Amino acid sequence: MPDPSPAPTRLSLLAEEASGCTRCSLSEGRTQVVFADGSPNADLMLVGEGPGAQEDIQGVPFVGRSGKLLDRLLIEEVGIERSACYIANVVKCRPPGNRDPKPDEIAACRPYLEEQVELVDPAVIVTLGNFASKLLLDTETGITKLRGRSYEYGGRSLVPTFHPAAALRGGADVLAKMRADLVRAKMLMAR
Ligand code: URA
Repeated sequence: MPDPSPAPTRLSLLAEEASGCTRCSLSEGRTQVVFADGSPNADLMLVGEGPGAQEDIQGVPFVGRSGKLLDRLLIEEVGIERSACYIANVVKCRPPGNRDPKPDEIAACRPYLEEQVELVDPAVIVTLGNFASKLLLDTETGITKLRGRSYEYGGRSLVPTFHPAAALRGGADVLAKMRADLVRAKMLMAR
């Protein structure tokens, strides 16, 4: 009988490798590694900060309140479901108490994210918030100054925007800017 299961892809092997990762101390407090969600063939990749409580339990990025807002904005401004995107985070394990990820944790996890970008090879990357934007743009400049234009990342377009949690906290102005940034991403995808 031929084997009915498809050959594992490099991306699925990377996810498997990450599932047992102990490169930093976040591994000690996690329920599970939150590697990614969505399509490995996506034209649009979204990069968040790190899993929260819900994500840690479910093993899927952006399933809490921020995720619900993100899903809605993707449909309303880009015209796509989250399942058509590839969604990952800077760190794959939940920082305790939802604290910010530390530099050594970000550095330990960075190779996973960089390989995810290479393997998915999206046309456009949207970085959500300071951590993803500063990491991929290799800058200390904050998101408020960075956003409003696109950048180049390894031959792809990168659009930095606010984290949806900031839109939930910050109200109409932050939300309007996020919407405008997602429209920019949509236009770049169409090129
Ligand atoms: N915030 C993030 O940055 N990532 C998630 O996956 C959930 C909330």
